[in-house]
This record gives sequence, C-alpha cells and structure tokens, in this order.
Amino acid sequence: GHEDEIRALIGRMTVAEKLGQLQQLAWTGATGPGGDQTAVAEAAARKGELGSVLNIIGARHSNALQRIAVEESRLGIPLVFGLDVIHGFWTTFPIPLAQAASFDPETARTDGEVSAKEARSNGVHWTFSPMTDVTHEPRWGRIAESSGEDPYLTAAFAAAKTRGYQGTDLTAQDRVAACAKHFVAYGGAEGGRDYNTVDVSESRLRNLYLPPFKAALDAGCATVMASFNTISGIPAHANSHTLTEILKEDWEFDGVVVSDWNGVGELLPHGFAADGADAGRIALTAGVDMEMVSTHLVDHGARLLASGRIREDRLDDAVARVLRLKFALGLFERPYADESAVIEVPTREAREAARAVAARSMVLLKNDGGVLPIAPGISVAVVGPFADSRDLQGTWAGPGGDKFPPVSVLAGVREAAGRGAKVTYGVGATKNADLIVVVVGEGARLSGEAASRSDLTLPGDQEKLIAAVAATGTPFVVVLLNGRPLTLGDWLGAAPAVLEAWHPGIEGGHAVADVLYGKVNPGGKLPASFPRNVGQLPVHYNHENTGRPYDPENPGNTYVTGYLDVDRTPQFPFGYGLSYTTFETGDPKTATPRISAADLRRGETFDVEVEVRNTGERDGDEVVQLYVHDPAATLVQPVRRLRGFRRVTLPAGERTTVRFTLSAQDVGFWTNALDGRFVVEPGDLVLYAGTSSTARKHCTVVVT
Ligand code: IFM
Repeated sequence: GHEDEIRALIGRMTVAEKLGQLQQLAWTGATGPGGDQTAVAEAAARKGELGSVLNIIGARHSNALQRIAVEESRLGIPLVFGLDVIHGFWTTFPIPLAQAASFDPETARTDGEVSAKEARSNGVHWTFSPMTDVTHEPRWGRIAESSGEDPYLTAAFAAAKTRGYQGTDLTAQDRVAACAKHFVAYGGAEGGRDYNTVDVSESRLRNLYLPPFKAALDAGCATVMASFNTISGIPAHANSHTLTEILKEDWEFDGVVVSDWNGVGELLPHGFAADGADAGRIALTAGVDMEMVSTHLVDHGARLLASGRIREDRLDDAVARVLRLKFALGLFERPYADESAVIEVPTREAREAARAVAARSMVLLKNDGGVLPIAPGISVAVVGPFADSRDLQGTWAGPGGDKFPPVSVLAGVREAAGRGAKVTYGVGATKNADLIVVVVGEGARLSGEAASRSDLTLPGDQEKLIAAVAATGTPFVVVLLNGRPLTLGDWLGAAPAVLEAWHPGIEGGHAVADVLYGKVNPGGKLPASFPRNVGQLPVHYNHENTGRPYDPENPGNTYVTGYLDVDRTPQFPFGYGLSYTTFETGDPKTATPRISAADLRRGETFDVEVEVRNTGERDGDEVVQLYVHDPAATLVQPVRRLRGFRRVTLPAGERTTVRFTLSAQDVGFWTNALDGRFVVEPGDLVLYAGTSSTARKHCTVVVT
C-alpha cells in the first residue's frame, strides 16, 4: 500500500492544503443547480487547495487543468476527475433498469468495462456509478438508474458493474474508480418525489437498502456517495450512524465518501445546520470526506479546527482517504491522460456489445397468438411518436448521448425486414400493412433525477393512438420505450403483443428489431412490478403480509387488505417475462431437508436444484428464480425474497438443472438492533422456484 507515503504527505500539508483536498468543484457541465466553477477551480488548483473536479471531459482539457495542479502547486498533488458515466460514455448502453431486466449481471459488467475504457482515455478517473438504490417507487424518476425493487438483484448488478469499471488495477488506463450511491435509502423517498424524506426502521435499512452497497464494496468499489434524503430525521450527509458506524467502522471501508452535489450545503434547507460553518462541521464529523460543489469546509474549516469544533485526526483521515484514491489510480506516477490514445467514437465492438445488452434486456410482456416474432417478408407499418425518434438513450446518457444519436426503431426494422419486404412509416401508411408496430413511451426527460411523475400512463395522446391502431383491425405490436414501470391502461387488453424495450441506448433500433424479428429470442424479466394504477402503489413483490392478507382462493372475503376498486395484484409482477418458446420448471429439490442454525452460522451451505425444460419449438432463454420465505420469525419477513437467479439458454426440447447454493445470508435477517445483529432462526423455510415472483412450486427446509 501507499500508507507511508500518504502519512508523509499529510505531514507536509498546511491546513488549507488539507481542506483543499476535501473540495470537489464543478467544471462547466452542470448536473445540479449552479455549478460553473471553472475560474475558482483553476485558482484553487494553482494554490494546491483543490482535490477534485467533476464534469470535465477530454484528455486535452483535463490535462491542462491537471498541469496546473501538478506543476504549479506547492506539493504537486494531482487532481482526480469525476463524471457521471452511468450507462456509457460515448457508447450509450441501455439504462441500468433495463440491464437489471436481463437478469444477467454480465450485461452490467460489459457496460462498465466499455464505459471505463472510453472515459479513462478521455481524462475521467472516477465515475459516480453504480447506483445501488433499491426502490419500490416507479413514480421516482431515478428508478431508471436503479436495478429495481429487489436488494438481491441490485446487489448482483452493483458488484458486476463495479468489477466492470474497476477491473483489478485502477492504475490501468482503461479503468475508472466506481462510486456506490446514494448512501443510503434514497430510493425510499416518500411518494417517489425526488429528494424526499425517508423514515426507515433499522431492520429495513439493513435488509433492504444496505446489502447492495455492501456487495459493491465487497467487489472493491473505491468510493461511496451520500444521498440527498433524510434517514429517520437525520440527513444522510449528517448521519454518523450510516456513514461512520456502519460504513466505516462495521464494514471497514477505507475509501472516500463524497457528498452529493451541494449535499453539505443542503443541510441548511433540511433544517439541520444553522449556517455554513455548522454544515461543514456536521458533514465532516458524520463521515463525509469530500464536498461536491458547496464550499463550507474550505470556507470555514480552519476556524472550525482552531476552535476545536472539528478534530484534526478526522480531517487527516478524510485527506488520507482522498490521497488513497489518487494513489490507487496511479495519479502520482501518471497524472495525465495519453492524448495520443484517446477513444473518440464508439467502436464497432462497443456498439455490438451495446446492441447485445439491449436485446438481452428486453421483456416480452404479452404475445397472444404468437404475433411475434415477425414473419420474414410481410409488410410492416411502423408508427408512433418514438418510431423514428432518436430519444432512445434515456437519462444520464453521458457525452455520447448528444454526439452519437441512437439508431431509431424505424431504421432498425427497415434493416431487419430486408430487401423486398415493405416497411412504411406513419399512421397514414398503415392501410396495406400486414402488421403495425406502434412505438410509444416516455422521453429521456421524463425519468432520471428530479423527474418524478404522479401519473404513470403513456404521456400525451399515445393511448389514443394505440386505440386508433387497434380500430384498424390489423394485427399490431406495441413497443414500449420508457425509463420506469408504466401503468398500461385499457389498451393492454386490445394489444396482441407488447415488448418492453426500455431506453435501449445507442443501438436501440437494431436491438428492438433483433427481438421483433426473432434474431434474438427475448428472455428479460421485470426488475420492478408494473402497477395497475398509481393509486395501487406501493405494489412490490417483496412486501410483508398483513394479518389479513388477500387470498386469491377466497375472493369473497372482504375483510382483507387492498383497495376496493383495483385488483390486489400488480399488472405484471417482478420477475415476469415471456419468450417465443415455452419453459417448464420442476419442483425445487434439496438433499438437505434439515440443517441446524448453528451449522449455517458456521458457514455451512445447502443446495436447492430446479429442473428447467424448453417445452417449445425454439431455442431460448429462461431465468430460473429462487425465492425464500420464513413463515414464522421474530421479525415479520417479506412474503418472498429473491435469493437466487440464473439465466440459462436452452435449445428447443432440452432440459437442464440449475443449482442454487444457500447460506446463512440467504436464510437469516438483520434485526432492529442499532449495532447490527444478523440472526438465523430455527423453523421452516419455504423455498419457491419458478420463472417469476409468483412461482408456486416449493419445497421446505427445516432449520433446527
Ligand atoms: O452523481 C450525481 C448524483 O447522482 C446526483 N447529483 C449530482 C451528482 C454529480 O453529477
């Protein structure tokens, strides 16, 4: 390690230089209110009083600023450059929610790897990704950046994406440092309104929100970002329980905690800090190591230190964390990006990877009568506001979003249909079509940060358009391009086929056509439940039971939880998705019907096997899913918890057996103890297996 060098360097630093390392300023790109701090950043870098800059792009630009820090400042400490590379730098991959729908973490690893390569060559050292927030709120715009409603799925994607970004050596010129964000419980915002209040029990914090962060850190994630929300009355940026007790002490995290944009400054409007000095003191003391955009630590830190309101050992610890990141990235040896090795465009391989990931992420929601895949040679009309649109990249598309517009669905369909097949565009051209493809959705601006919606229907007149298409009597297919679960309304009944394509990225049109024409057999599954209407929210699969749960076998009983005017179930549940072929799964089986809690705690595991068979005529993918339920616990448990999934490709007629290995982690849970207590209790454990969260086949393991 570099601990000796770090200590020696800190020993030579003035208080102003130390505080400077804790400051991150924004270059010209604003990803929050205000933010053009170019001139201030240059001056601070020259004085050696700046640690980091975000939103600076390009090897030449960033090198010019780096030269000031390295060559003109007293100690020559390099800057670390951060950027939101969320699902692509030049090559825009599908949004993270889509990637989660692949139920194949390799998709996220691939995105991370391609993104890191492009970003690092353009002077970026550090991405503010993966987003590891679990959410039960489709109204929340940032669900698009998440992996949906389940902590186990989110954890798997957080780890994979981290590995993709970071590899095993951050000094490599094709890797960037990752940042698990937003710490923590940001996805619990009340009503799905961005930045909103979160009041959460300790057990829910530990069982639902924290595990994906732990998974990212176990995969080596170098940094963590604090979240904008309060956590049971304490803003996340002021929360020493989460930032210090859990993250830094229990988990022994020795990396950087960066604030969110003005997150330290926001302690004032939150009603937690009296003034800027107070905000700086509170944030540093709670565990924030670097302040993004607001400048309370550099402004007031020296006085806070002199008056004993912040501690010098805590200041030095924060500085050490920042320097550790810079050493890990190799910036002291190699501060500059190689201007002769800049990747300037998406390469062919990168585009192919993005196309494959996009196709793998799509979820076939409905396919009555086998309308899909489209038979070769038939005439197709492509209609709808997104048919010829380039608005396919979704939120946080990175610098490539503007520079390299995606392939439209129309272009993709034209290519896939091939020569001789008639493809027309627009509602006026549908008369002689054998099939109409209606491309609808929500544009990039309707999801992402500060983009919550109170109404989840297709915006504008799109439902009317679908109704008009249905009225023609011609078979049709609805392609959805959106950043969140939508409420699909009455048109769903009339639509023979619906393909959820999400915001599919730069190769979106190609990928949609790959699936529509059957070059790729869809195998994605929903990472978040689709509600029937907004009033029904929350409607996630991993809820707890009431004492009066709804029983579908006994629909006459009115004294049960739910609403009078809408079915109790979601429109489409978590884990759901169809294929052009059919699959059957067998009963889950285990050779370990009994296992002791003590053995589990000692690290013993048990296996559950599930057979899956492709019973149709085509090769295809199925995601075998395993859910756990503990029917009698000292803390009421979710009705189901995903604890295993595997996406398998099976030729028509073939079968395979998937084996899941379960450990104490899968069986036990965190209690409400503030100091963190994980228990494995004796009793029955029901293991459901199948192809969605409504799987019924099960077996029981008794924990003794
Ligand atoms: O990384 C983001 C964060 O997710 C939301 N606020 C701004 C940050 C930096 O752009």
